[in-house]
Amino acid sequence: MLEKQIRETVKYIKGKTGILPEAAIVLGSGLGGFADSLEDAVILPYEEIPGFAVSMAPGHKGQMVLGKKKGRYVLCLQGRFHYYEGYTMAQIVYPVRVIKALGTPKLILTNSCGGLNPNFKPGDFMLITDHINFMGANPLTGPNEDWLGCRFPDMTKAYNQELAGKARACAKTLSIDLKEGVYVGYGGPSFETPAEIRMFQMLGGSAVGMSTVPEVIAASHCGLEVLALSCITNLAAGILDQPLSGEEVIETAGKAGRKFTELLEKIVEII
Ligand code: HPA
Repeated sequence: MLEKQIRETVKYIKGKTGILPEAAIVLGSGLGGFADSLEDAVILPYEEIPGFAVSMAPGHKGQMVLGKKKGRYVLCLQGRFHYYEGYTMAQIVYPVRVIKALGTPKLILTNSCGGLNPNFKPGDFMLITDHINFMGANPLTGPNEDWLGCRFPDMTKAYNQELAGKARACAKTLSIDLKEGVYVGYGGPSFETPAEIRMFQMLGGSAVGMSTVPEVIAASHCGLEVLALSCITNLAAGILDQPLSGEEVIETAGKAGRKFTELLEKIVEII
């Protein structure tokens, strides 16, 4: 059933562009700019892609953009599906499985998130080296899709070391002080309480956000190589004596967007 639907989606995408993307990139809140500068771009709104849900989160466009960047053919998702919007985990990870079925081997996930590490500043970028799933759900719950991966997939290498090394090298070239750490996935849509933030800090979290973890689990399950990058848009609740707002998150991500796009471009060039 799922397999049939995914094959239909793949057929639709292949019918729009005959070129196999070398990498897919999910662009998080306020970070969609990268896709705007692709050459020979083919834009597919989510509502026109069979099997896709429609993204409604603020700061997300809700479209797939296929095109060339630095000589590399890439598939970008401008907007993702979040658990807090009411989507099922299956809907959230559907695009990841489509990417696998297309034959694209590499997945770059980006997001905006709150810093748990008090040394982080808004506008910093962080390489995700591992995660803690605090969403209370797992996208692999239910019958296993054997054609995608095994029942109990190992997560020790969910974040690809080689891609991480390349991201570090690109950041260095661009004089970007790329932070690293553990991303905590939180369901939202309310921001965390200060007590929850203290707990996440004690658990070893470096940043917290409301996405990415389901996609990484599904990507790892089906054998995609994953690189995940965060933009720290704010310090998490209670660290500073100021309230959090979704507008602030999008504004900070937007301001950091140009530098983030530069980093992504460099990474795409060498992976
Ligand atoms: N918490 C959760 N998600 C977020 C945050 C945060 O502080 N900032 C951006 N996304």
